[in-house]
Amino acid sequence: MPADIACPATAIARFAALAWQNEAEAGELVIAGDPFRRPARARDLSFVALDQPLAMDRLASNMSLALHRLLFNAFETDLLFLPDTGTDAAPDWRRFDEFYGPETAACAAAARPHLERLAFAALEDEVELSGSWSPQLTLAYFCDFLAREERAPGCDEGDPVMTALLSARDPQAAARHYLVQMAPDFLSEASAMARLAPGAYGPLQSALFNILIDEYGAAVHAAKHSSLFAATMASCGLDPRPHAYWQFYQPGSLALSNYFHFVAANKRHFFRYLGALFYTEASLVNITGRQSRTLRRIFGERVETRYFDEHRHIDRHHRGMVLARLIEPAIAAYGARAIAGILRGFEEFRLLQAQADRDLESQLAWAGSLARNDPRLEPHIAAWRAGALRSETFHESLDERSTTHIHPDDRLLLLESGTMTFHPSAGVAVKLCAGDCLFIPRGRLHGSVVTSVDCLYHQPILPAEAAAGLTRAPMAEVAA
Ligand SMILES: [Fe+2]
Ligand SMILES: [Fe+2]
Ligand SMILES: [Fe+2]
Repeated sequence: MPADIACPATAIARFAALAWQNEAEAGELVIAGDPFRRPARARDLSFVALDQPLAMDRLASNMSLALHRLLFNAFETDLLFLPDTGTDAAPDWRRFDEFYGPETAACAAAARPHLERLAFAALEDEVELSGSWSPQLTLAYFCDFLAREERAPGCDEGDPVMTALLSARDPQAAARHYLVQMAPDFLSEASAMARLAPGAYGPLQSALFNILIDEYGAAVHAAKHSSLFAATMASCGLDPRPHAYWQFYQPGSLALSNYFHFVAANKRHFFRYLGALFYTEASLVNITGRQSRTLRRIFGERVETRYFDEHRHIDRHHRGMVLARLIEPAIAAYGARAIAGILRGFEEFRLLQAQADRDLESQLAWAGSLARNDPRLEPHIAAWRAGALRSETFHESLDERSTTHIHPDDRLLLLESGTMTFHPSAGVAVKLCAGDCLFIPRGRLHGSVVTSVDCLYHQPILPAEAAAGLTRAPMAEVAA
């Protein structure tokens, strides 16, 4: 490897500088029909600590967002997308050729190992497998997990994400954002699994291929799981074309998808892949039941829930297949190596899923109760006016925009002059004018576009204790 691309910062910066990852234009809040356009924020890399892996408790951070966007793109340059033909415009082969061109391939290949290490090395440290795990003990542990999943379907209200959806001021807007978080994975579902189709590794390969066939709808395109999910999105008023809502993918959502690509693309992690696959197949039966019921409560009969209903059905089989036809024979054939990998993948994905759920729940809770000019902000505005708070000031002009991003601190957004549209989640636009104020907690994804000739605004930074009282808004009490 040439010395310069062995340097993480150089390799990542070269990949991030590719034009198709340039910052978003004002009209790119929704990127309809162009799966090759993936705005990132290369300039944020100068603030990212590229010498240490992302700590798991920083999954909801700008570093995480930057790393996972780039890593997701590096993985997806291996997947096939074709130009959109849904409009009168001719297919854009220039974009296609750039996305799959030699420069992209070389830069992605050089950056990917560094991005993988930064994104997931801390997860490896966080999951510690102690004690000695015999084949019997390992299988008993997984059977016990399965039995608990079967016994405890869980109620919708007991699920924090479902609760956040149902209690949002606009549950349909919240549910659309939730569906958008599934899109990076589900619209090209099982692509990571397909990375393991080639090769020759005996009956394990055929067992995995059996699941892959189901994911691909046994070659009936309308039954392919990604097609079912596209139908769900369309029934809720969302554009189902891949990555239309690229800007609103939260880092936790990208991380889940990236983890599967990571353990599938790096063949030495095959057993980790099996562990993660078992966790997801085993837990999805209950989760998809809750998702289907909650979507019907929110959208009524018009919502297409076949994606979730199909998984509730087929994942009962898949979880048993992964255990009996993949995990058991892998352990029988490969012993300690298989056990260590499978347990690691299972626990790592479980931890990552829990962190991603927290990221999502926090975003839904904030965006779902966001209010202009919440009276609780007034004392903090007064403190800022009195010079007691550190603040940043921005002077921007028409159409100036910020590619969606995340701040490391709790801050207010206070317009002094002009107008702006603020986006706290996919499909939601809050119009702001002079004198308007909002609260943006640390870790929350957002973007904005200036809609007047000039716009002057301030962002006073709140002390953590002041922000703590604002993060869980009493929704009924706050007027929009
Ligand atoms: Fe599926
Ligand atoms: Fe499945
Ligand atoms: Fe911001």
